[in-house]
Amino acid sequence: MKIVSVVGARPQFIKAAPVSKALRNAGHNEILVHTGQHYDYGMSQVFFDELNISEPDINLEVGSGSHGRQTGQMLMRIEEVLLREQPDWVLVYGDTNSTLAGALTAVKLRITLAHVEAGLRSFNREMPEEHNRVLTDHCSDLLLCPTQTAVDNMGNEGITTGAELVGDTMYDAVLQFSEVARERSSILKDFGLKSKKYLLATLHRPYNVDVPESLGEILRAFIEIDEPIVFAVHPRTQEKIQSLGNSLRAQLTNSKVRLIDPVGYLDMLLLEQNARIILTDSGGMQKEAYFFGVPCITLRPETEWVETVEAGWNMLIGSDWSLIVEQARTMEPPPESQRQVFGNGHASELIVHALEVIIPTRRAGG
Ligand code: UD1
Ligand code: UDP
Repeated sequence: MKIVSVVGARPQFIKAAPVSKALRNAGHNEILVHTGQHYDYGMSQVFFDELNISEPDINLEVGSGSHGRQTGQMLMRIEEVLLREQPDWVLVYGDTNSTLAGALTAVKLRITLAHVEAGLRSFNREMPEEHNRVLTDHCSDLLLCPTQTAVDNMGNEGITTGAELVGDTMYDAVLQFSEVARERSSILKDFGLKSKKYLLATLHRPYNVDVPESLGEILRAFIEIDEPIVFAVHPRTQEKIQSLGNSLRAQLTNSKVRLIDPVGYLDMLLLEQNARIILTDSGGMQKEAYFFGVPCITLRPETEWVETVEAGWNMLIGSDWSLIVEQARTMEPPPESQRQVFGNGHASELIVHALEVIIPTRRAGG
């Protein structure tokens, strides 16, 4: 089989790494297309270097821009690739603009489309990702769902064929790279961190960081928590912090919050495992906290990963500073350990199998 995989943003490199390996191990011809949505070394190339992903066959170098401009440029450039390559499948990941662009281009050319991490819903249409997910799911031929909730969501939206429960490829990645991280990462030593004696934070949702009041509330909470917090700052957030008032920035500088650049995946795995609590609005990090048995405070009012909340490992707190501070002081691991709701670590192989057996109905004119 010939497969064009479309990736472009940080979490997609991680989701794609185990699938790309499984595809190549099974002897398939994968053409890896990087849209260029993320491009800084620490947001892109570091993942190719650390996760042994082969270099992208094509980098479309789309870069940053408004949603329409960015997605439109991706559409034009992905179309050229698909017309040239004529793959059996287009494979897209997650919920970014790169996902939607890959999906739309494929269906307009009537090339069969598979969506990895299909079926997730936040039910919050304020999030650009929610639109990307809904649209991508509704035009995919094969919906590769990480959880039973995702399969159920599809049923509720009338998608009764093509949804397969395969598990979560981010869980595959954690299992494949945790040992490597322990061998290679020196981040705890480099930053003088002691296991369970610090909190870890990330933040990048536009409704948190593009709204100065929300960003200010969250940063105020980080300062008030008064414990060491390692805060790996996404470039979107770096820009926004620069434009905050001098007083808050000075308080941050004098606090126990340590702002660092985005880190590579191996360093992040180690930081996550050893944190007392993770504070985040990231989708992927909520799951990784669960995989590692680290309590998570989600700086959002809702989540796609409801299983982590139901199990007591994740609390949805939003951006209210006093609630964040209170939760950070009191949150403990729940008494029960985590249930295996994200598959058995072999989602990638199941994905390859599904691609192999599903008859490409569109091609056959079905
Ligand atoms: C995107 C995804 C989001 C995902 C996140 C993962 C969409 C709509 N959003 O959000 O779903 O959770 O990636 O991290 O697709 N920038 C840099 N260097 C880079 C990349 C970005 O400086 O390498 C800056 C630019 O100023 C850019 C801003 O970050 O405008 C936002 O980047 P963008 O890719 O548009 O959105 P993210 O917030 O990263
Ligand atoms: N991540 C990383 N370095 C960082 C921040 C995140 O390697 O500095 C990893 C994290 O471990 C997870 C993924 O990036 O695997 C999550 O990506 P992000 O939070 O950017 O996007 P989301 O999951 O919210 O779409």
